[in-house]
Amino acid sequence: MSAADLPGTSVQNLVILISGNGSNMQAVIEAAARENWLGLLGARVAAVISNKPEAAGLGLAQQAGIATEVVDHRGYGSREAFDAALMQSIDRHAPALVLLAGFMRILTPGFVRHYQGRLINIHPSLLPAFPGLHTHRRAIEAGCAQAGATVHWVTPELDHGPILAQAAVPVLPDDTEQTLAARVLEQEHRIYPQVVRQLLTDLS
Ligand code: GAR
Repeated sequence: MSAADLPGTSVQNLVILISGNGSNMQAVIEAAARENWLGLLGARVAAVISNKPEAAGLGLAQQAGIATEVVDHRGYGSREAFDAALMQSIDRHAPALVLLAGFMRILTPGFVRHYQGRLINIHPSLLPAFPGLHTHRRAIEAGCAQAGATVHWVTPELDHGPILAQAAVPVLPDDTEQTLAARVLEQEHRIYPQVVRQLLTDLS
C-alpha cells in the first residue's frame, strides 16, 4: 500500500511543461520513480504538456508511461488565448505543483496568478544575474568566474521570483556556450528534483 492508497489521502499531481529536449523533466520523472514519490509522498507526474508538437521530451514521457498533451501556441491568436487553453489542460489534473522545465513561452500575469504558490521554474543562470535568453554566452562574455542554475517560484516578472535553490559551476578559460551549458545542465538535473521533492514533502 502506498500513501496514495490511504483513505482520505489524495494524490499530489505534478504537471510538467516543456518545449524541447525535456532533460529536466526526465530528471524529475527518474527521481520520482527511484525515490518512490508515489509511495512516500503520494505524488506522481500526472502529465507532460508541450507547446511544441516536435518536442523530444514528449517521447521520453510517453516511454515512461506518462500522459502527454500538446497545446500548440501557433494555434492561438493571443498570449491570453493560448494561456487559457493551457490552463484548461493543466487544471484537468488538479496539480499540486506545475513545473516549467525548458518551457520557452512568456506567461501572462493571469496565468501566473492562477498558479501562484504552485508554479516553479528552472533557469540556467545564477539569478538575479542573466534573466532571459542566451545566459551561458552572456556569462562567458561578461567574464564571470562562475555560472549556474536557479530554481525559483514564478512571479509575473520574468525570471525574478523568490529563489528556492541554486547551484554554481566554474566557468573555465576554454569554455564555449555548449560546454558551459552541459556543465550547468548536470547541476539542473540534480537540484530540480531535490526542490520538487522538498516542496512535496512540505505539502504532504
Ligand atoms: C534548461 O537549461 C533550462 O534551464 C532552460 O532550458 C533548458 C531546457 O533543457 N530554461 C530556460 O532557459 C527557461 N528560461 P531541457 O529541455 O533539456 O530540460
